[in-house]
Amino acid sequence: MPEATTEYPPVPDLVWTADLQTGDARMDATHEAFVQMLAELRALPPEDQLPLFRELTAHTVEHFEQEDRWMLATGFTADNCHTLQHRSILDTLKAVEAHYLQGDTEIIGRMADALAEWFPMHARSMDAGLAQHMRSLGFDTRTETLPDPSRVRPASMSGCGSVTCS
Ligand SMILES: [Fe+2]
Ligand SMILES: [Fe+2]
Repeated sequence: MPEATTEYPPVPDLVWTADLQTGDARMDATHEAFVQMLAELRALPPEDQLPLFRELTAHTVEHFEQEDRWMLATGFTADNCHTLQHRSILDTLKAVEAHYLQGDTEIIGRMADALAEWFPMHARSMDAGLAQHMRSLGFDTRTETLPDPSRVRPASMSGCGSVTCS
């Protein structure tokens, strides 16, 4: 009988492909940069990962702020479930840096693997739902303006638009 093992299979590389696109050019450009940076980070040995991990964290702060801002502008509450998921990822990124600095040098690699698993699900559900919602209102993500603001009731949505949050 083979020995039981707690090893999980390695997380495959995450590469930018058309099926990750949401159809919003600005959102997709941000996502492509994230995927690229994450691939570069995963290719580094643990002892060299911290500078790029910090860059990825800063990029992710901006990435999430951008989407959170668009959600507020198109009728979501400030604590809608998509924004809460962003917050929890950012909290985890901060905790990872602290653990790395305390000597757990493998933790950035584990976090990078977790992000490579998480991102496609997030992009295809919450982000794709947000892109579709913005399109339905004609919200322009380049200028961050609405053609008809009267179509949006501020802070009226706490879910994720067309997708569920569970
Ligand atoms: Fe996103
Ligand atoms: Fe998002």
